[in-house]
Amino acid sequence: MFYCNKCNKYFSENFNRWCCDCGAPFSYTPSVSSQFPKNKIKGRNQTIWRYQEALPMESKEEIVSLGEGLTPLIPSLFEGQKILFKLDYISPTGSYKDRGTSFFVSKLKEHKIRKVVEDSSGNAGASLAAYCACSGISCEIFVPDYTSAGKVVQIEMYGARVRRIPGSREDTAKAVKRAARDCYYASHNWNPYFLHGIKTIAFEIWEQLGWKIPDNIVVPAGQGSLVLGCQIGFNELKSAGEIENFPRIFAVQAENCAPLYQAFQKGVTEPVTIQKKETIAEGISSAFPVRGSKVLSAVRNSGGAVIAVGEKEIWESLKKVSKSGFYIEPTSAATTAGLSQLINKGMIKSTESTVVVLTGSGLKATDKIRILKEKK
Ligand SMILES: Cc1ncc(COP(=O)(O)O)c(C=O)c1O
Ligand SMILES: [Zn+2]
Repeated sequence: MFYCNKCNKYFSENFNRWCCDCGAPFSYTPSVSSQFPKNKIKGRNQTIWRYQEALPMESKEEIVSLGEGLTPLIPSLFEGQKILFKLDYISPTGSYKDRGTSFFVSKLKEHKIRKVVEDSSGNAGASLAAYCACSGISCEIFVPDYTSAGKVVQIEMYGARVRRIPGSREDTAKAVKRAARDCYYASHNWNPYFLHGIKTIAFEIWEQLGWKIPDNIVVPAGQGSLVLGCQIGFNELKSAGEIENFPRIFAVQAENCAPLYQAFQKGVTEPVTIQKKETIAEGISSAFPVRGSKVLSAVRNSGGAVIAVGEKEIWESLKKVSKSGFYIEPTSAATTAGLSQLINKGMIKSTESTVVVLTGSGLKATDKIRILKEKK
């Protein structure tokens, strides 16, 4: 079922519209509650589909998978503390988005959708283009014209049409909505199936830690799909009786675009309207998170926090993690910069277990990283 939190109304699962008549995004509740048969899971394919009881499909024939999920969880020493890095940049298209896209495109296929448009800062577009390519769905991706060249070329190579929109990320979102009048707007930010693919990161961390949860999870947040994915995933594990507690969720924003951070600081429930400035963390440059109030309540209920990092901190962190062998994009270095802050402020302790999600590959952003390297 689809559900609108604002109208408190249920809708049948559908692709007739991408949001409720009231303008709010839908949430999705699987028709049967998720189960986690551990012995069966262990023997299955190393993809998100090993948790198939939590990813309901009418028929397995419609599943679109490129081998996403079960990414490495690697121990590392960071600021003198033991940390676990979840290498989600080792995904078929180079970012964590593939988790969400695999389930989302499987649903598009199940509902016989043949043509879609989408807007993205680059990674979700590349991911959607890849999964549409292997399922015969025609795809057009709108990106801001500042998007890293690596991501744009990648989208084109998958056979999708790219529309580069001058201006901000929000201008791109406006342009795609005009184009969505004659085909489905397959927005990863608006469609609730996407978050249910992302939730598999919670299941994986739990499985990889020997069916246990960590104390803390640190994720980047623009729209906040990882915060919400973790919330849904750990909630489902709790409802199934598999876990008792919840990890604390720490969400990291760029100071230059921090509507959630400012709301968290002010103690308010809606994202703050901000004057956004440019950030090298292009993936989290979202001034209007469509599920912002839910992201804020998910972080607060977990006992975590939203924090913000400056441009210099992001760049310094990118250099530092690269020297430990992790080549990530600047958006993901915002997360490690946030991790430094959390450790230095004593918000995360060495006695606790902490998982930090590295979301995007540096290989996609080499054009931008090279310019930054030459400037500094
Ligand atoms: C590499 C990377 N990390 C994190 C994010 C943030 O995702 P969200 O906007 O859902 O918070 C993005 C979004 O594009 C991204 O590309
Ligand atoms: Zn509504």
